[in-house]
Amino acid sequence: MYSTLSVHFLPSLTTPEELAAGVVVVIDVLRASTTITAALAAGAREVIACAEVEQARDRAAELGRRRPATEKILVAAAAETIGSTTSAMPAMRAAKPEPLLGGERGGLPIDGFDLGNSPCEYTPQVVAGRSIVFTTTNGTKALMACSASQQVLIGSFLNFSAVSRKLTGEWPIHLLCAGTRGRVTREDVLFAGALVERLAGRIVEEGAMNDEARMARDVWRHAMGNIRLPGRRANQRLAEVLKDTQGGSNLIGVGLSRDIVDASEIDLYDFVPVFDAAHWRIVRPSS
Ligand code: MLT
Repeated sequence: MYSTLSVHFLPSLTTPEELAAGVVVVIDVLRASTTITAALAAGAREVIACAEVEQARDRAAELGRRRPATEKILVAAAAETIGSTTSAMPAMRAAKPEPLLGGERGGLPIDGFDLGNSPCEYTPQVVAGRSIVFTTTNGTKALMACSASQQVLIGSFLNFSAVSRKLTGEWPIHLLCAGTRGRVTREDVLFAGALVERLAGRIVEEGAMNDEARMARDVWRHAMGNIRLPGRRANQRLAEVLKDTQGGSNLIGVGLSRDIVDASEIDLYDFVPVFDAAHWRIVRPSS
């Protein structure tokens, strides 16, 4: 089945009406879409997207989150009853796991939150079975633009091939780059370009792509040359390229260059997170 393919370099360069009839891939390679994928791969129950920090705190409270200090007091009280601090904590968590708060502002963890926006923080030990209430500067806002779309997928290099396989041509395809504070960023354009390269000639004809799609593909080809995906060489080259983007230099500036390397692990996972706009949650579909 053949479809149209449109890349949007920023959410402000499209409209919810344009996105409504299609499948949208939301792209924030550094780092929201990468971290959401890592969290669900580590067994998080769901990622609940919030645009603002206060909204995230309120949502977490609605879902039963206690203030960290209160949680510590309750854990200590339970430990006294049961007789051991270390054995009491997992027991309490298993009985009623509270949501975790995750995300960033200015690239850094938010005061009072459990987790920042580094994929390596989202390990099975920390997130398995937990809901994560999540807010980032640009990524969660990009989701707002596609609340009426037929299907919304979360795309990152960690699940690149899985995303490409999900795009079957049933609906018009939109690749939506989050950008940074209203500016186009090359890391998101690169991912869009990699997908255009993969889909063109298969489910999309050359004449059915917009100019942003062709431009994104040019950027990708120029950056990667003839290096084939996936593989160690491709990961290494991609990490070098991502370091030299706006998002990459922001992360280097706050001492988080490891996140760039982690975001360059092409096809580490074989699933695609799906955004359920009715409940503002992102889940890993059961296969
Ligand atoms: C965002 O959503 O703005 C990004 O993921 C930014 C970041 O991770 O620093």
